[in-house]
Amino acid sequence: MSDFEGLKALVTGGASGIGRATAELLAARGAEVAVLDLDPSSVDKPLLAHRADVTDDASVRAALSAAVTDLGGLDVLINNAGIGAQGTVEDNDDEQWRRVLDVNVLGMVRTTRAALPHLRESAHAAIVNTCSIAATAGLPQRALYSASKGAVLSLTLAMAADHVREGIRVNCVNPGTVDTPWVARLLDAAPDPAAERAALQARQPAGRLVTAAEVAGAIAYLASPLSGSTTGTALAVDGGMQGLRLRPVGQ
Ligand SMILES: NC(=O)c1ccc[n+]([C@@H]2O[C@H](COP(=O)([O-])OP(=O)(O)OC[C@H]3O[C@@H](n4cnc5c(N)ncnc54)[C@H](O)[C@@H]3O)[C@@H](O)[C@H]2O)c1
Repeated sequence: MSDFEGLKALVTGGASGIGRATAELLAARGAEVAVLDLDPSSVDKPLLAHRADVTDDASVRAALSAAVTDLGGLDVLINNAGIGAQGTVEDNDDEQWRRVLDVNVLGMVRTTRAALPHLRESAHAAIVNTCSIAATAGLPQRALYSASKGAVLSLTLAMAADHVREGIRVNCVNPGTVDTPWVARLLDAAPDPAAERAALQARQPAGRLVTAAEVAGAIAYLASPLSGSTTGTALAVDGGMQGLRLRPVGQ
């Protein structure tokens, strides 16, 4: 497939997990791809790598400008960099709230702000935000993270409305629990990692974790010029977790 032939894409948080799988898939489908990450040291050709912290506006603007120069333009922005938080509304202090919202929400604002002048020059402009099932389902012990992803969902819709007449599409993906280095870190920190993995798998009707490649496939679908009429949507990639209500096994 070469639907991205001739297009230029930037993926934030593209050095690991979902972002890495997305950068590699877009490149395999013909795009020239730059990764923007806190630590892009593991990123290899054909991907271009730029170091930036999405909480630092100057750093984002400098990296985005350098990436656009390297790529020779920008058609596709994947806002994917994000961090997690655990706990109820009582458990995270104000500093943690500011930190997670700064990365997960304002990070997307900063990269999008810097990218829009370039996207306006594109005939196939698309933005895809990595949201989460935490935006649409109440999950225990995820108050702060869920608030950040709820904001991403609303931001996606507002951005889609603001830029539709400029020919810029904006959508998001809502993954369930994805088997990435992030989840591996969570499992490592659990008192019983095997039991925690089993519980996460059982929470998904499909009975297994989502793969990063499956989320990348959904992101590529939304970013592709083949999806020119798709904007303001949230695509669940969650093994049925949001939409299905199964009876217990055997009943
Ligand atoms: N893994 C899951 O279960 C899951 C589920 C739903 C949504 N998501 C979302 O998917 C996205 C990617 O998650 P992942 O599981 O691939 O995580 P990951 O930890 O494997 O990768 C995240 C990447 O983002 C980068 N990053 C973090 N903070 C940054 C910053 N301030 N500036 C620049 N880069 C930064 C990291 O260096 C890392 O390379 C996140 O937005 C996350 O909320 C993940």
